[in-house]
Amino acid sequence: MRTYEPEVVPESSAGTAKCLVLRQPDDWHVHLRDGAMLAAVINETARQFARAIVMPNLDPPVTTVVAAEGYRARILEALAPSIAFTPLMTVYLTDAIEPGEIERGFASGVFTAAKLYPAHATTNAAYGVTDARLVYPALELMQRVGMPLLLHGEVTDQNVDVFDREAVFIDRVLTRILLDFPALKFVFEHITTEEAVAFVEAAGPNVGATITPHHLMINRNAMFEGGIRPHLYCLPVAKRERHRLALRRAATSVNPKFFLGTDSAPHSVGDKESACGCAGIFNAPVAIQSYATVFEEEGALDRLQAFAAEHGPRFYGLPLNAGSIVLEQKPWRVPSSFAATDARIVPFLAGATLAWTYKGRIDDAERERSD
Ligand code: NCD
Ligand code: ZN
Repeated sequence: MRTYEPEVVPESSAGTAKCLVLRQPDDWHVHLRDGAMLAAVINETARQFARAIVMPNLDPPVTTVVAAEGYRARILEALAPSIAFTPLMTVYLTDAIEPGEIERGFASGVFTAAKLYPAHATTNAAYGVTDARLVYPALELMQRVGMPLLLHGEVTDQNVDVFDREAVFIDRVLTRILLDFPALKFVFEHITTEEAVAFVEAAGPNVGATITPHHLMINRNAMFEGGIRPHLYCLPVAKRERHRLALRRAATSVNPKFFLGTDSAPHSVGDKESACGCAGIFNAPVAIQSYATVFEEEGALDRLQAFAAEHGPRFYGLPLNAGSIVLEQKPWRVPSSFAATDARIVPFLAGATLAWTYKGRIDDAERERSD
């Protein structure tokens, strides 16, 4: 019988490479896009993760049950036939959203959660919420039925410095929402600051947070190293080193409030390398390898499984995955780009060499070994 204690085991008696076997993780925040881009990126996520919370910021955004069902069908259609993967759909909150639509979608299992983007905060957020009070009827419903709210936690006030927008969001918006909906389950997404870590730690068990690989690996200097680095630009933008260190402490702390969410957000090279480049980092191909690198650097490889595969499902009230994945401690060079039909996409850490190679799901890896 398999145990799911994370284990570092020698690959074979003859070899020296170590393997890390983990319960299969989930990605609690990903952008899969649509059309040719969806086809280009979906299998990168599905190879590593059993389930993923799929962001609804298409253009137009996913605001109805019918739209989410259609999008889910296109995701499943784009999947390689051999890969088992469950997309967990979300609904995009707008000023005009009908609580009845949310309730129907949640009750029928189409919507797992609802996403709140402050209007104009980020990519395709033009339809976002202009004032949180406008969605209070929706939040009331969600609190009542136990449906999680996912928050892009940045104010959009142009007078607030871009590096302060998360901390100001906590003071101006989040604190208020928590007071008005004390039992609402919510996820403070892709947190980037020590203020966000402290806020989540101090809140009740109904509050969780996702942490991306890039915010654990880079600070804001990385965007300007030797010139402007558009592929390291995302929102919320990376912050100072002390914030990165606070995120590393939180991710490796075994506090069940913190869990894996890549915020993998692909854009074509042309849209990134532009006079007004899009925000978003495509990290799906390097996701679990990056987290493993970070946890190893922190001397916390034994805690990776809790962060990657246990805290998220427990927060969402979903079963833990039964399968597992294998990483091998062998250098792996990240491809410099990936192909979409009419574009190329540059991944996070393009061209760099990571210490961990992703081998696949346990059955795949076993098959390879017996070949
Ligand atoms: C995301 C995108 O491109 O959709 N971009 C990003 O920088 N993370 C939107 C978002 O999650 O903010
Ligand atoms: Zn995102």
